Amino acid sequence: MFQRKIVIAGNWKMHKNAAETVAFLEELKKSGRDLGASCEVMVAPTFTSLEAGVKAAKGSNICVSAQNVHWEDKGAFTGEISGPMLNEVGVTHVIIGHSERRQYFGETDLTVNKRIKAAIRHNLIPVFCLGETLEEREAGSTFQVVKRQLVEGLGDCAPESAEKLIVAYEPVWAIGTGKTASPEQAQEVHAFLRLELAEYRGVDFANKVRILYGGSVKPDNTRELMSCPDIDGGLVGGASLKVDDFLGIIEQAS
Ligand code: 13P
Repeated sequence: MFQRKIVIAGNWKMHKNAAETVAFLEELKKSGRDLGASCEVMVAPTFTSLEAGVKAAKGSNICVSAQNVHWEDKGAFTGEISGPMLNEVGVTHVIIGHSERRQYFGETDLTVNKRIKAAIRHNLIPVFCLGETLEEREAGSTFQVVKRQLVEGLGDCAPESAEKLIVAYEPVWAIGTGKTASPEQAQEVHAFLRLELAEYRGVDFANKVRILYGGSVKPDNTRELMSCPDIDGGLVGGASLKVDDFLGIIEQAS
């Protein structure tokens, strides 16, 4: 039995400016909890708050993540950001392929693959998001969809170790809707994803990759979700914006 360290990650989406980011992190640090002792804690502020976030997190175990990375190191790509730029700011992780990127900004499995490769090239841990829509679930194609997203998203990329890859299963119908996947529904997909990861890189690798669940995670549903054997943490949207809720989730997951 492999022990995978739980990851509790806050995806702040387009919320919190630099001052609010610093205030949140200061409060989190003051909570007196030994953050990072029993689980890894990560927050993903917006680009303009990353630098302040990295500074504020210094001396704690809180990791700071970006929410996107381009596959080129520089060039004519208005509105994008590159791996070297993220390295300069000092973040350790980057969220890639979130369903909001796929839905509103034309992200595809191919661009996700290119971004994951860029992240790995620049020593950033990809938090690779995937998940089916409500229509896909109702049509019975959940497994087919997440398999395609996983296989095409990873493609030929080569994380040197399983610790350098985090997968986040986020059923689109559960994001921001208050409708959480049941622990059984989530566990079923997580176990399936782990089997697919074993196909990709072998059982040993698959057993070490953390697979997070995302979609209306809150303090009161965390324990049940995290007690599933293949759920190794949470990617939290709304409930990661308030220190009390975020701490509550960390508490319940620990
Ligand atoms: P909510 O927790 O607000 O449902 O958002 C989940 C999410 O999209 C995290 O990436």
